[in-house]
Amino acid sequence: MKLIEIVFDGVKYLIEEGSNLVKEMDKHGIHIAAPCYRNTKQLGCCKACIVEINNEKAYACCSKIQNGMSIIYDTEELKVERRKAVEAYVNDPNPGECCGGSSCGCGSESEESCC
Ligand code: FES
Repeated sequence: MKLIEIVFDGVKYLIEEGSNLVKEMDKHGIHIAAPCYRNTKQLGCCKACIVEINNEKAYACCSKIQNGMSIIYDTEELKVERRKAVEAYVNDPNPGECCGGSSCGCGSESEESCC
């Protein structure tokens, strides 16, 4: 296990390289809104876990910790996007279905990912 430094909302954390961003931040008491990840263990379905990683929007549940990551979570713009995503997800959560395809946008080939 290799620990690397990341920055999350301006705070530095030592995190296990290659691990899932949502899971690792939980360990540090940072609970990223991630309904589909937490409730169905599917990734990339609800879009509520949107963050900015090195100035590009990404989904935390689909993101693996990498060296040099700077993650922004708590902004008004992201809160608005998150709220819209949660509303859409509540109305159509696709229970038990893989959301897959290119909808996630993470490009991950992880076994955990439905993308
Ligand atoms: S938790 Fe649903 S897209 Fe990330």
